[in-house]
Amino acid sequence: MTEYYIHGFSDAERRRLIAQARMLSTPVFDGLDFSGADSLLEVGCAVGAELHLIEQRAPQLALTGLDLSALHLQAARGWLAQHERINLVQGDAHSLPFPDDSVDIGMTIWLLEHVHDAAAVIRELLRVVKPTGSVILTEVDNRSFGFDPPQPAISAWWDAFNRCQAEIGGGDPYIGGRLRQIAEALGAEVLAETPRAVISSSDSSRHRADQLQYLRELLESGAERMLAHGYASVEMQRALATAFDKVRVQPTIAFHCGAVRLICRKPQPKEPRAGWPPGADAPARALNSPS
Ligand SMILES: C[S@@+](CC[C@H](N)C(=O)[O-])C[C@H]1O[C@@H](n2cnc3c(N)ncnc32)[C@H](O)[C@@H]1O
Repeated sequence: MTEYYIHGFSDAERRRLIAQARMLSTPVFDGLDFSGADSLLEVGCAVGAELHLIEQRAPQLALTGLDLSALHLQAARGWLAQHERINLVQGDAHSLPFPDDSVDIGMTIWLLEHVHDAAAVIRELLRVVKPTGSVILTEVDNRSFGFDPPQPAISAWWDAFNRCQAEIGGGDPYIGGRLRQIAEALGAEVLAETPRAVISSSDSSRHRADQLQYLRELLESGAERMLAHGYASVEMQRALATAFDKVRVQPTIAFHCGAVRLICRKPQPKEPRAGWPPGADAPARALNSPS
């Protein structure tokens, strides 16, 4: 059962998630305005790293986090011990234990790559958000990961990592590229779709060494499952470490890793357009559609 999550549930993973949330807070939260909302649900909250940051940004929000893993939720209770108002719930994202129309904002951050049916999860999020609310999905598209010039040992590990994640966990590491299609097929109204640069050697606001260390820990976090299930060998693991050591001391090597943020909402109710055309049944118009 614990195989569904390639990164595992160790203490090292708990620390990695907390460091990751801080490291990636700009691509995750920049441009989001929570001021008009009273409640937010993060599905796939893991150890509470994002909820901690959200509470600092928007203390007025009633926060709920849901995760499948009892171990991660136990860690979240520790990390969020000072934040008594945050409600943590164990459950499956495919079948949310919340009523229809009950939250202002439904969010996922790095969740959908791990689930076997992303459309079912998005359908559930659309069900539980209020008609005036929104669903905000920030998700990877692992195709965007790469080094220039290419680093074969890192690429080989990354390919194996993505195969392992998809085959043993049933997820889709390229889900970011399909969010719009899935949301629209569910009848949602897409309000925004924006690429997010998660890690980039051209980002001068962050130290190159810190970004590389983040990427290295991300890739190495899959090692236990990749080795156990035959997706990688100890030789590949050594070559990965050597390649990262090389990239660290060669500042001319570029790297990039991106994601997608999709904001959507429930299909909006139709209203008749009064008096037009005269004498005929009025054609429907979507509320809040651009005029
Ligand atoms: C990469 S972590 C993301 C954690 C958090 N959003 C963050 O950014 O720190 C993915 C989390 O999704 C959870 N998860 C995977 N499948 C799930 C499912 N079907 N229902 C609920 N949680 C799930 C895992 O247990 C893990 O805690």
